[in-house]
Amino acid sequence: MTPTVLILNGPNLNMLGVRQPEVYGRESLSDIETACKLEAARLGLVVDFRQSNHEGVLVDWIQEARGRCAGIVVNAGAYTHTSVAILDALLACELPVVEVHLSNIHQREAFRHHSYVSKAARGMICGFGGHGYVLALDALSRLLPKHEG
Ligand code: DQA
Repeated sequence: MTPTVLILNGPNLNMLGVRQPEVYGRESLSDIETACKLEAARLGLVVDFRQSNHEGVLVDWIQEARGRCAGIVVNAGAYTHTSVAILDALLACELPVVEVHLSNIHQREAFRHHSYVSKAARGMICGFGGHGYVLALDALSRLLPKHEG
């Protein structure tokens, strides 16, 4: 069976393309989804690409990934910097996690420098816009047990 990677997007990421394009770029979330699906096919993976503005929904989806998915790529948006609930869900799911951000969060306001998600992530990619998701998928695929692609 082809392994599934959950790609999770948090609040306001549905606004990509129109939201502060000078910070987040002109690509829409659906452009990023398309790029991820192409890369996943190359890697012999399937992606389940989701976005929610609601913390509890993100927690539910992380819980459901346990046993169903092979790993998680997550851009938790602003919840990155605030959500112990998302951190706890990521720790409980016992899956490899790669954190991604479009912008370089370390170049921005001090409140964006701390990430709860990082405590549960094998690594973090930031500052490469939508291409960061493709890089994150590549990184995650190398953490998975070898499978017939
Ligand atoms: C973000 C960075 C966060 O600080 C911000 O709240 C976002 C997007 C990024 O992808 O650069 O919503 O996660």
